Amino acid sequence: MKKVLFVCLGNICRSPLAEALFRNHVKNLGIEDKFSCDSCGTAAYHIGATPDPRSVANALENGLQYTHKGRQLAEQDYAEFDYILAMDDSNLTAIKELNGIGHKHIYKLRDFDSLMVGEDVPDPYFGGAQGFQDVFEIIDRSTFHLLKGLSKS
Ligand code: 4NP
Repeated sequence: MKKVLFVCLGNICRSPLAEALFRNHVKNLGIEDKFSCDSCGTAAYHIGATPDPRSVANALENGLQYTHKGRQLAEQDYAEFDYILAMDDSNLTAIKELNGIGHKHIYKLRDFDSLMVGEDVPDPYFGGAQGFQDVFEIIDRSTFHLLKGLSKS
């Protein structure tokens, strides 16, 4: 079982969606016995919160229903998860700063994108509705290619 952790800033917009979309791809490929996943935020702002209603509404328009309970990245996550995926450079820096055990598999999610490789997943929090749809498409595509990559290794 490979364990994958998706990390953003608040754990209410991007990373809970990444967790849900990755899980959806796992289910569609029928490999639920091979992968598990979770998400968290580098910040403490939204501990215990459900995902941003704008993200949830946009996902529903795309046929995806999900929920999550917000939590903050903790030191034990480095021992528990095999792969840690940051949404942007700022998350990546924060993840590396807390990395006491020298985890070897910390990446940006879009290192696995098939378009615009290595870019940030933009933060939709302060933007409009189109931002949420853009983020949905970016994360859907990137989590699919991440899963394809991890399935081979
Ligand atoms: P997320 O988006 O990191 O994708 O969950 C944000 C959520 C909340 C805040 C910033 C970004 N905030 O400043 O509260």
